[in-house]
Amino acid sequence: MSQTLVEAPPALRLRDVTKRYGRAADATAVLSGVSAAFPAGTFTALMGPSGSGKTTMLMCAAGLTRPTTGTVEVAGQRIDNLSDKQLTRLRRDRVGFVFQHFNLIDSLTAVENVYLPARLAGRPALRGRAVELLNLVGLGERLKHRPAQLSGGQRQRVAIARALLTEPVVLFADEPTGALDQEAGREVLDLLRRLATEQGTTIVMVTHDAAAAAAADRVLLLFDGVLSAELHGASAEEIAHRVVSHR
Ligand SMILES: Nc1ncnc2c1ncn2[C@@H]1O[C@H](COP(=O)(O)OP(=O)(O)OP(=O)(O)O)[C@@H](O)[C@H]1O
Ligand SMILES: [Mg+2]
Repeated sequence: MSQTLVEAPPALRLRDVTKRYGRAADATAVLSGVSAAFPAGTFTALMGPSGSGKTTMLMCAAGLTRPTTGTVEVAGQRIDNLSDKQLTRLRRDRVGFVFQHFNLIDSLTAVENVYLPARLAGRPALRGRAVELLNLVGLGERLKHRPAQLSGGQRQRVAIARALLTEPVVLFADEPTGALDQEAGREVLDLLRRLATEQGTTIVMVTHDAAAAAAADRVLLLFDGVLSAELHGASAEEIAHRVVSHR
């Protein structure tokens, strides 16, 4: 009996993505011909100098902005040509985002920070699921703490739990350890590593820190809007060397 194997699409795929800000024909491209596939359950770090286009690439990939040309697919579905309304739905339901400065609501407890934003957006977000996720990120004992009563690393872990509430296809993180000291940063990286390995979460993380990038399965290097190298299983020293030698 013959069997046709249909390969599952990657969680995320960018094909020949170009981004220009502004309409002027001479506006310089911030991204030029960026193509990359992100298989489900993999943890990718994106590195490159300031202004090289890392945040722009993440925003195109997450449906926060549209590429000027090229295509973006999330779980095999094109997202670059969606309407504003469809993009809002995509951002709410299919992708998660974690920022450098946590963006928690000061007046809410940890558990409220995890489920209330989704509920306010009209999703059936359950408190019980928020409690499960806070347990998963190691904060089961801190459900009722407010952000001011949590350390930086703990706040970022609450933000990660919030981003996971809708079971996103991809979790994006833009310098999630950038505002943390080394130890708190390590906690967050260990958590991201564990989410990819144990939960199959697909993670794309921007970082300036080679040690942080070494926690990922692979590192993509972006220079002047062009993906110029891909490293697999590289040590922090190797990554730092590659980043510096490109300057
Ligand atoms: N909304 C915007 N309008 C116009 N230009 C922009 C806009 N956003 C970013 N840029 C420009 O695009 C380029 C890339 O910016 P981007 O924020 O993607 O870089 P980055 O690699 O994330 O940098 P950093 O490491 O400093 O965060 C920069 O030259 C920036 O000035
Ligand atoms: Mg940036």
